[in-house]
Amino acid sequence: MSEPAGRYAVFGNPIAHSRSPWIHRRFAEQTGRPLHYEAILAPREGFAAALDAFQAAGGRGANVTLPFKEEAWRLCDERTARAERAGAVNTLVLREDGSRLGDNTDGVGLVRDLTVNLGLALAGRRILLLGAGGAARGVLAPLLGERPAALHIANRTAAKALRLAAEAHGPGPVSGGGLDQLPDLPSGLLKLFQGWPDSGVILDQPPGPPFDLLVNATSAGIGGTPPALPDGLLGPDAVCYDLAYGAAAQPFLRWARGQGARVTSDGTGMLVEQAAESFAIWHGVRPHTAEVIAALRRELAAGSG
Ligand SMILES: NC(=O)c1ccc[n+]([C@@H]2O[C@H](COP(=O)([O-])OP(=O)(O)OC[C@H]3O[C@@H](n4cnc5c(N)ncnc54)[C@H](OP(=O)(O)O)[C@@H]3O)[C@@H](O)[C@H]2O)c1
Repeated sequence: MSEPAGRYAVFGNPIAHSRSPWIHRRFAEQTGRPLHYEAILAPREGFAAALDAFQAAGGRGANVTLPFKEEAWRLCDERTARAERAGAVNTLVLREDGSRLGDNTDGVGLVRDLTVNLGLALAGRRILLLGAGGAARGVLAPLLGERPAALHIANRTAAKALRLAAEAHGPGPVSGGGLDQLPDLPSGLLKLFQGWPDSGVILDQPPGPPFDLLVNATSAGIGGTPPALPDGLLGPDAVCYDLAYGAAAQPFLRWARGQGARVTSDGTGMLVEQAAESFAIWHGVRPHTAEVIAALRRELAAGSG
């Protein structure tokens, strides 16, 4: 007798653009598992009620996207260590007794795309992380886990980058500041930290350029422009990665090519890898991702699906 299909969903607002149902259908076909996975538009003030109703109706797992990742974190009975550190949850295990386990697979998805799919070694590298929102928060600890020589967080609102750097408990030197302070690194940054004497931020590596890897975790590209960045940030073999995919990634990737980046990539691979991690948590089997990433790239290029 075949196993009954569990109910799974992605919650967000907006949600129509989400590729998650498409990706999970490919994983289900590949692994031969019956799966019912839908996209649910939750009202901005109604996520908790929508999740309760889904779980009561037999929902066994959920992905969570903007703007509910922090609320999902609060709605969990238990969280994995990486979700705890991120302060945001993108994967929920919904148990029959009504309890919930929260996880965050965004960071492992990014690191897998960088290290496995793009073949990059991050140990000893100098990383510039742009942005200090939910996505930056989710990828910070997994990036630090790769033991870079230095990781600097630059955000439009400098205070958020400083806070994120101060909260980071990973190995390696972490620093933070404003996007507009990038031209002043490293001296401008050292001044900034005077207000954070107990922050635990380590500054034994100069935090300034040249960087080996730029990770754009801002949403600036949605408005058609890259974040405002000075020239001269990239080292000779620099890799530039945008978490966004499709059209939203193009402004930053164009800027990166103009600055001479050796490799540029959008976040399609991360999207599929974080989904594969969720699938493995729910179903105990990790799908192969290469063919799904290639198929999704074709879908995005064709502007359909
Ligand atoms: N590929 C994947 O699997 C994946 C997963 C998660 C997220 N993402 C992508 O990551 C991006 C960020 O998502 P998020 O959840 O972190 O969003 P968020 O929490 O809303 O944070 C947005 C960030 O972008 C900055 N920002 C917005 N407009 C800007 C501009 N014009 N110039 C410079 N900085 C600007 C914000 O700075 P302030 O703090 O100053 O407002 C903030 O740091 C989105 O494009 C999302 O699609 C991709």
